[in-house]
Amino acid sequence: MSVKTQRLDKFLTATTDLTRSLAKKALHRSEVTVNGEIVKNSALQIQASDKVCWLDEPLTLVGLRYLMLNKPLGYECSSKSSHHPLVTDLLGDLVNKDQVQSVGRLDVNTSGLLLLTDDGQWLHRITSPKYRKAKVYRATLASALIADAEERVIEGLQLDGDALPTLPAKLERLGPLSAHLTLNEGRYHQVRRMFAALGNHVEALHREAIGRLWLDEDALAPGQWRELTEAEMALVAAQ
Ligand code: URA
Repeated sequence: MSVKTQRLDKFLTATTDLTRSLAKKALHRSEVTVNGEIVKNSALQIQASDKVCWLDEPLTLVGLRYLMLNKPLGYECSSKSSHHPLVTDLLGDLVNKDQVQSVGRLDVNTSGLLLLTDDGQWLHRITSPKYRKAKVYRATLASALIADAEERVIEGLQLDGDALPTLPAKLERLGPLSAHLTLNEGRYHQVRRMFAALGNHVEALHREAIGRLWLDEDALAPGQWRELTEAEMALVAAQ
């Protein structure tokens, strides 16, 4: 799947009650601006970051935004306000940002890769258990891992309150107190609960990858976001 762009005239008919010929007239009458500039070219390609206005009213870009955010600590992945700021508060002046939702969730105390979109079908495809996207977390631990931690994670751990053990997962030691954990499912506080089942405690948790898509830590400081590229859209959709 590629990053969506749309011709300006199609964009106008999709976001207003203008017909295609009325949209063309509106363009000729200089009623349409893109990023503050009057545009008359109906074939101009519009993408997620563009701010399109008709008669000074911003128009909604539905199903066009696919974003990668480096989620900082202290932000909540929810649509309602709580006592924490929301990840969507980090999207600045993105047009109609209230239509953007996070693709899955990270805890308030977890940082790292978070995808956001206003395309409900895409969100469903990436989060559906049917597609089992692997997720890679880097955990900083309170104490050294037990000797057979890798085997126990492959076998599956019984978590408090859950009927079934966890699916086979992969644990890789990165240092005396840090490890990568790769999961193929997403239960409530799963990483923290898995390390608790190993007799450990997670001090810090950071998501690095979803599927084959890795967080662009070089370009994105905590709290920064950018649009996914076409190559990244393909990577995250790939099995
Ligand atoms: N597991 C957790 O414990 N927290 C997260 O945010 C994600 C996975």
